[in-house]
Amino acid sequence: MAIVYGKAPGKIILFGEHAVVYGQPAIAIPVTKVKATARIYPAIHKSQGWLGIEAKDINLNTTLSELPTENPINMAISLTLQKIKPTHTPAMQLQISSTIPIGGGMGSSAAISIAIIHALSSFLGQPFSKGEISDLAYEVEKIHHGTPSGIDNSVIAYQTPIYFQRKRPIEFLKISKQSHWVIADSGESTPTLETVAAVRAQYNANPEKTGKFLKKIGKITEKARFALENGDIKVLGELVNENQQALRELELSSKKIELLIKSARRAGAVGAKLSGGGRGGNIIALCYEENIPSIIEMLEQAGATRVFATRLAESEVS
Ligand code: MEV
Repeated sequence: MAIVYGKAPGKIILFGEHAVVYGQPAIAIPVTKVKATARIYPAIHKSQGWLGIEAKDINLNTTLSELPTENPINMAISLTLQKIKPTHTPAMQLQISSTIPIGGGMGSSAAISIAIIHALSSFLGQPFSKGEISDLAYEVEKIHHGTPSGIDNSVIAYQTPIYFQRKRPIEFLKISKQSHWVIADSGESTPTLETVAAVRAQYNANPEKTGKFLKKIGKITEKARFALENGDIKVLGELVNENQQALRELELSSKKIELLIKSARRAGAVGAKLSGGGRGGNIIALCYEENIPSIIEMLEQAGATRVFATRLAESEVS
């Protein structure tokens, strides 16, 4: 049996984070400049069923039987094995690595699960479909996020821009004009579980007021889909800024996020907002290609810990 790889990109949410948990639509795109990789190969001198796990980035060197059952890596493996029900499981070694920042709102947890599920199902000779991989990763996401909307596992498993709404079929976006986005890490992070719980607390305390902001984000996302599909960058920029305003009202921004947004806009970004759970993590700035270098420079000067540009390409016409 040969070495098998599973790879999964990072993601950013362009519009609709948090509101998506409450049934509003959201738009997310894969980011292939960062990725999670799972590598599986036979463990020759070990007995059947043995599974070694190594993740150097987080100093983990263990075996499946030693990992707690609620550990997300254990869950991704166990759910895959439960679905395949192999008559015998060969001894194997799993190595996990990732360049996706942890806690930065770029889907690191979902990408790691997806890379593992993909590699393991392929190694055992029954490669799962994208939909199957996404469904299993969603189960693992529940440990990280409590009540995940499912957008992270979906965009990462399908590796294509999506318009996502809970309980509705995923829609794949048809982009008519490329756009450029600079992604900047604030170097601060708050677990998504916490920010989702903070919005829930606001909602429970004042459903009318919080609901109004969430619905507003939903409307912005609907308009943004139209602007993306029609290649209207100027309108898209205005919508990015409006989305950020609603996220501010929901108390999801932070001083550092605001500083980065201001810096990006001063350097010529058409619009900028936080992306993902908020209260830290990454900001995204929509920009014209010629402004990318100066925006990156300004963001670095403002204290972003990692800055890079990604291009959302036009959809291929089939
Ligand atoms: C996290 O990437 C996005 C949130 O909307 C949570 C979720 O959708 O599960 C904050």
